[in-house]
Amino acid sequence: MQTFIAYLLFAFQWLAILPGILASPKVISLDFDRYEVFGDTKPGLRRRDTSGADITNSQGSLLYLLNVTIGTPPQKLSLQLDTGSSDIWLPWAKSSQCSNRNTRCSGSGSFDETLSSSYQLLQASTFLISYVDGTKIRGDYIRDNLAVGSSSVINMTMGLAKTASEQDNVSPFQGIIGVGFETGEAVYAQTGQVYPNIISQFKASGAINTRAYSLWLNSKENGKGTILFGGVDTAKYSGDLVSLPIQPDARTGTVMSFTVALDNFNVMGANSQNQYSKSNLSLPVILDSGTTLTYLPDSMANDLYTGVGATVSTTYGVVVPCDLQNSAATFNFGFGNPNGPVITAPIAQFVLPFPADIPAPTFRSTGKVACRWGIQAAANRPILFGDTFLRGAYVVYNLDNNEIGLANAIVNATTSNVKEITAKQIPGITSTAAGVAKQTASGLQGPNSAAFSTGSGVIATATGPAFNLGSSTAGASSSNAGGKKSAAGVNSPSMGVVTMLAGVVSIMAILGGALLLG
Ligand SMILES: *[C@@H]1O[C@H](CO)[C@@H](O)[C@H](O)[C@H]1NC(C)=O
Ligand SMILES: *[C@@H]1O[C@H](CO)[C@@H](O)[C@H](O)[C@H]1NC(C)=O
Ligand SMILES: *[C@@H]1O[C@H](CO)[C@@H](O)[C@H](O)[C@H]1NC(C)=O
Ligand SMILES: *[C@@H]1O[C@H](CO)[C@@H](O)[C@H](O)[C@H]1NC(C)=O
Repeated sequence: MQTFIAYLLFAFQWLAILPGILASPKVISLDFDRYEVFGDTKPGLRRRDTSGADITNSQGSLLYLLNVTIGTPPQKLSLQLDTGSSDIWLPWAKSSQCSNRNTRCSGSGSFDETLSSSYQLLQASTFLISYVDGTKIRGDYIRDNLAVGSSSVINMTMGLAKTASEQDNVSPFQGIIGVGFETGEAVYAQTGQVYPNIISQFKASGAINTRAYSLWLNSKENGKGTILFGGVDTAKYSGDLVSLPIQPDARTGTVMSFTVALDNFNVMGANSQNQYSKSNLSLPVILDSGTTLTYLPDSMANDLYTGVGATVSTTYGVVVPCDLQNSAATFNFGFGNPNGPVITAPIAQFVLPFPADIPAPTFRSTGKVACRWGIQAAANRPILFGDTFLRGAYVVYNLDNNEIGLANAIVNATTSNVKEITAKQIPGITSTAAGVAKQTASGLQGPNSAAFSTGSGVIATATGPAFNLGSSTAGASSSNAGGKKSAAGVNSPSMGVVTMLAGVVSIMAILGGALLLG
């Protein structure tokens, strides 16, 4: 009897599974981990931030890491998922950064080509990416097998990073998986040639129908998000999914980065009263998962500093009281045109606790614990919308049709309804919000706000918010901060605010390619 029941169950299981197999959409769904690190990841991203705070020494970044294996037998690495660049590069196991006296590659792994039977050297010493501060990463173009989830690519072209000229020798030497346009590859700026990147490889192998993917980062507290190559998960967003044309580079007319037009922005405060608004912006913004924060033109960023009561600290960067995350106010980002999609982001989305094992600074005037502020001034950099913005959005990147599908994300969604993207059409798109923004990325802005000089652990100035953001929820207190509270006057490690510019490669191409040296 038991055998019979087991048999029946087995049969029913197959009946249930079978239609799924027959109708299985051509998509690749990959979960990734949110990971917090100290220091820069992409070498060479150190700079003085726009407030004048020196962020050279150490900082914390939230990265999104995808597990992959490279070679035969497979070597495990975690690569940073980056919509702002287009190459895959791997830290070389024998580089000085990964040598045994150094632990900079211990977290995310490195690649040893001598241990892979499928490794091929494509071109020695020609892989080169130069970053803003002059740091250069050099290495070989290689080919090897890459596997991610249950998908694999034979002969994937990648950079093997052998040397890096960098001052910082403590932060992780982190490999990257760039999922941008092929015109964003480092080699394109050097030679005008491209090679098939990971998305093209997935399409060529028949695993997906369209060179498109959807990115759902999930909440800042939740450690996992999903990238869905070739598909859309209609259970991960609310409201309408609206199509936005990707804006080409104004000089070349070529689509090179995920630039869309920001048309309007407003702050909705207490009792749904408008506190601030900007319209008719035609602002070119790059959606860049490889950038931790969100950058706005200086004047807007400064208006928001004043509005929410942010303080610029030399040591800690731009900080706000952590209890700002209890505000019910929202930032509303309108794209395309006045009738385009609006991403409604609670202010809490931009309040980042200092990493848990760092004593969080406090404000001298109020004793409140400080958090990092997730929107900063772009100064002379392109306008990048990084993770602090992207966590609120469900974004479909359709490279075959030069369009972005945009909707409000449902954070912590537990259900799933995956649809394949076929013949260039994104399922669920309800309308298109046309709109134009000139992407010149020259964007030179005015002078930056003055820096405040403070002692360690204590931030002297705490201004109240100029916006009426509504009263904080009762019980809102410093205990919401992820970091331990440090007593006033106690020395804290020097922490700067994260200003990661992981999209730097494609950005440099936009700026004229001058920083991608041949
Ligand atoms: C990635 O690999 C790490 C280490 O093996 C593991 O802890 C983590 O759960 C993996 N992440 C995913 C999303 O599979
Ligand atoms: C990979 O490249 C090597 C060398 O170019 C070639 O011999 C091999 O056939 C290629 N494999 C596949 C599956 O394309
Ligand atoms: C999402 O889940 C995390 C826990 O994983 C929780 O801290 C957070 O508040 C949740 N966010 C929302 C908007 O439900
Ligand atoms: C928006 O900008 C365009 C072009 O700069 C201008 O023609 C138009 O009058 C502006 N509209 C509003 C409402 O300011």
